[in-house]
Amino acid sequence: MTRKKLILDVDTGTDDAVAIMLAALHPALDLVACTTVNGNAPVEYCTDNTLRVLDHIARSDIPVYEGAARPFVRADFPVPRAQNDLAGKIHGKTLPVPPTARRKADAGAVEFLIETYRNATEEITLVPVAPLTNIAAALTLDPKLAERIPEVVIMGGGHEIGNVTPAAEFNIWADPEAAGIVLAAGFRKLTLVPLDATHRALVSYADCQRLRALGTPAGAAAAEFIGHRIEVHDEIQKMAVAGTTPVHDAVCVGSLIDPAIITTRRHHVAVETSGALTVGRTVIDTHFRGGGAPQADVAFDADASRFLKILLETFARKPA
Ligand code: RIB
Ligand code: CA
Repeated sequence: MTRKKLILDVDTGTDDAVAIMLAALHPALDLVACTTVNGNAPVEYCTDNTLRVLDHIARSDIPVYEGAARPFVRADFPVPRAQNDLAGKIHGKTLPVPPTARRKADAGAVEFLIETYRNATEEITLVPVAPLTNIAAALTLDPKLAERIPEVVIMGGGHEIGNVTPAAEFNIWADPEAAGIVLAAGFRKLTLVPLDATHRALVSYADCQRLRALGTPAGAAAAEFIGHRIEVHDEIQKMAVAGTTPVHDAVCVGSLIDPAIITTRRHHVAVETSGALTVGRTVIDTHFRGGGAPQADVAFDADASRFLKILLETFARKPA
């Protein structure tokens, strides 16, 4: 079976960590590298967390390239715009996995992305599950980059749901100008997995017990990360079902393994970059009013049982 190559762009955090483990352990995927960016935590913490998670599951062979430490244009994130520090509560700065002596790669994330796609001889899917600063910078530096990337699957945005404001989802809100550049780049195949989908693939405490019962490092870590997410969501951002949480970034990776996990419709998507109330909103033209050519397959639903099945099957595997 040909394994699907991918690069994960992450701001590791708890759900990024589950996505990384899924991409690194599933037999159908070949995680080429992780690139890190400022988002859930300052970028140096995201890099350290990514290295820790990969070492925890015995995948120290996967390199980590550090990227942008601040948004593409704005100087007002993480503070003062990050009023409620939602990310800080749901992710913290350092994840509860052992430290590692392993170092990040010498090259920067943007340089790595440009050079990798310039020299690629096989298709590599790009999966940004964080603010899109690195991707926008790479597209700006290399105008031919978009045509070299066969497929992009982004966790971000929201139509009926916002999480960091009523209008906006965190990854887009944290760097709206970058998101606008990425969504307008003209990728051949672009999938957007917004909160409207990830909030339908909720994971519960009982599911965490099943993950822990697997008796593997990945199962234990996933149970820990997801259990913490449930605690915080129950406290400050209760889901439709108490005692559950979305695991946003892992839904993206899961859809590469089982496309039926998400249900998509093709629409034009733009990003609001001004307006105190609406900055960072993904404007998804669901009724084709704006005249913009649909450029993204947008996920409006997700199958929680298919998603959980993949988590349990993948994290049951013993490290090679
Ligand atoms: O809004 C959810 C997204 O923001 C996820 O990628 C999470 O890790 C945070 O980055
Ligand atoms: Ca993330």
